[in-house]
Amino acid sequence: MTEAIVYERIGDIAVLSAQNPPVNALGIDVRRGLLAGIERAENEGARAVLIYGEGRTYFAGADIREFGQPMQDPGLPDLCNRIEAAQLLVVSSLHGAALGGGLEVALSSHYRIAVPSAKMGLPEVNLGIMPGAGGTQRLPRIAGTETALEMITTGRHVAAAEAFDKGVIDRIAEGSPREIGLTYTRELLEQNAPRRPLCDMSAPEPVDFDAIYDKVLARGRGQLSPAIAVRAVQAACEAPSFLDGVRRERELFMELMESEQRQGLIHAFFSERAVSKLPELADVMPRDVISMGVIGGGTMGAGIATAALLSDLAVVLIERDDQAAAVARGRIEDNLKGALKRGKIDQAQFDAMMSDPLTLATDYAALSKADLVVEAVFEDMDVKREVFAALDANCKPGAILASNTSYLDINEIAAATSRPTDVIGLHFFSPAHVMKLLEVVVADQTAPDVVATGFALGKRLKKTSVRSGVCDGFIGNRIMNSYRKAADYMVLDGASPYQIDKVMTGFGFAMGPFAVADLAGLDIGWAARKRRAPTRDPKERVVCFSDMLCEAGDFGQKTGKGFYVYEKGKRGGAPNPQVAEYIERDQRDQGVTPQVFANDEVLRRYMCAMVNEAAKVVGEGIARRPLDVDMVLLFGYGFPRFWGGPLKWADLQGLDGILKDIRRYAKEDAFFWQPAPLLEELVADGRSFDDLNNAGQ
Ligand code: 3HC
Ligand code: NAI
Repeated sequence: MTEAIVYERIGDIAVLSAQNPPVNALGIDVRRGLLAGIERAENEGARAVLIYGEGRTYFAGADIREFGQPMQDPGLPDLCNRIEAAQLLVVSSLHGAALGGGLEVALSSHYRIAVPSAKMGLPEVNLGIMPGAGGTQRLPRIAGTETALEMITTGRHVAAAEAFDKGVIDRIAEGSPREIGLTYTRELLEQNAPRRPLCDMSAPEPVDFDAIYDKVLARGRGQLSPAIAVRAVQAACEAPSFLDGVRRERELFMELMESEQRQGLIHAFFSERAVSKLPELADVMPRDVISMGVIGGGTMGAGIATAALLSDLAVVLIERDDQAAAVARGRIEDNLKGALKRGKIDQAQFDAMMSDPLTLATDYAALSKADLVVEAVFEDMDVKREVFAALDANCKPGAILASNTSYLDINEIAAATSRPTDVIGLHFFSPAHVMKLLEVVVADQTAPDVVATGFALGKRLKKTSVRSGVCDGFIGNRIMNSYRKAADYMVLDGASPYQIDKVMTGFGFAMGPFAVADLAGLDIGWAARKRRAPTRDPKERVVCFSDMLCEAGDFGQKTGKGFYVYEKGKRGGAPNPQVAEYIERDQRDQGVTPQVFANDEVLRRYMCAMVNEAAKVVGEGIARRPLDVDMVLLFGYGFPRFWGGPLKWADLQGLDGILKDIRRYAKEDAFFWQPAPLLEELVADGRSFDDLNNAGQ
């Protein structure tokens, strides 16, 4: 018996309790313990086995850290088959999360009971795999093909009540998993309840699998695992026997296990947990934040205030005058109405949030109690400095003063106050109450407990927080500027914006860069280009077709026209015919002879630009590790999760090939395509970005 599973005999019942914190993952020790426990119970003549988890959960799934390593016996599929074949009654008692292999162990048991708060599901597709221990065969038998397909292809966590309705569990009871499990098992023994192996049930009803496969594939924007899982459920219906179905499931599971997408998604799983754990903050206590201030109630300020209200923080929002304050209040109300419509809050919560915890004011004196203030006024250094001087004069000692600036220097902003140690960047993404990313921008003098408070606030607002150093655009916007430039250069050289958008949506982005620019507003980039023009290096290539659009007053979706023309009531837009004229004019003016770009070449240049700038961001210490960059792109810029992030993608493609291509492009434009020193170093040493992640750099 291993320590991970403790065996105990209570009368006729052998109790197997899992003790493998934090989530009772089904690693090798747990699997061996369960197998040994079942055998011992049989040998000792017990009449039943009760399986449950100590600590916070039943089994949360296979141990993901074992993936990619040689499999050790017993494997989970064999273990599940053995549990199901046990000649005594097997009961599982569920609490916390019964996920993936965890639910598969429960489905191999003959009876299932759960506490009301238990959640269960088969979320493997979100890791780029699919259930591989009989889940695709047993779930449709007990819950029906349609329910199983929905649960398996979405990976959704189902609450106990719904699982009961769908027949996945047999009973719900209040209490500890041990107590409710023992009571239920005793009752079953008293009733002489029969063993109930799901493998003995008849095959489930078939559905139109080809149609569902196509639908699921399209929904995944290139992610394969949900679609492949459909074929495994199909086998449950069509294979000659249960065991044939299990064999088919195993083949498909192994195919996905070998895939790059599995590597990308598991990288994302661990990185999103690792990204906000900063060793230097391990012993630093964050400051208390109960009341928040927000300066400016435009797009961002209203979104940040909404996010704070949704997380039960009191908010004081300062605007320039009463009229602007009323408009800001309206924006927050609209945001909260959206949350109400989506079922995130109920009417009573909506009413409460719009009254007591929200104060609109025009006088900074209203901020006297605020523990943390986020400034979200116009992107102009003079205005920001003025606001921070006012904050310095009005906020209590110890209050944290944060800026939501997209590009400006936090050190310069901090210098407008007498307390630069309390100043930090908290860079939210639009819409701030929806987008998951928060860049915590640490300036030269920012105090460690201010950084810790930034991360604590991010957690409270349910954001993925990433530490960034100070530079123009921080991690995300700096990298975005680089791949946007690559896209603009390709258009000037002959690719069309629509080709590039199509290639990038084909790669897995929800939108291509030109559709995104239309959505964000073309005037934003235009203003930035004008601001930078005086300091631009003469060696840098200039692209004018976007300026021509702006000069014509076409700023994208908000004016109904940009790279695309938008019709009211229609989703998306059609290509704007004027864009081709502007591009041709730009080419003529600059004496550029357009060339044809193959789709592969478009993708390669776009991604090489992204990877190269990302490597510079890591090399300069702006991002702590490659995985920090990956999480910024995933949570702030719609990078397809199944690639894990640009630097995981780069590792999967091979860094030497990427560097070779960058050097090839540099022959055309040596200014833009300067290889990142870190990339050159890694290639020379034969190392990967993941090696840097693992070294904790
Ligand atoms: N294997 C290994 N480690 C795991 C794990 C797993 N299945 N699930 C969670 N962990 C680790 C996390 O990495 C984290 O480690 P850290 O403290 O070092 O960062 C720790 O456990 C706690 O996890 P969370 O921070 O996520 O804790 P939460 O309480 O927020 O969430 C959870 C708990 C809902 C169980 C969540 O961790 C989760 O969703 N886990 C993954 C569940 C899953 O996908 N299971 C399927 C696995 S694949 C499988 O079973 C294949 C089979 O079909 C053959
Ligand atoms: P916006 O123009 O929508 O809103 C700015 C608001 O600030 C206006 O309501 C204005 O009345 C108010 N304001 C200006 N000066 C003020 C002052 N002295 N005191 C109080 N209020 C004042 O701008 P937006 O888009 O909300 O941007 C705000 C900041 O957030 C900028 O720094 C921007 O770079 C940054 N940001 C913007 C993002 C976006 O997608 N819009 C994303 C992330 C950051």
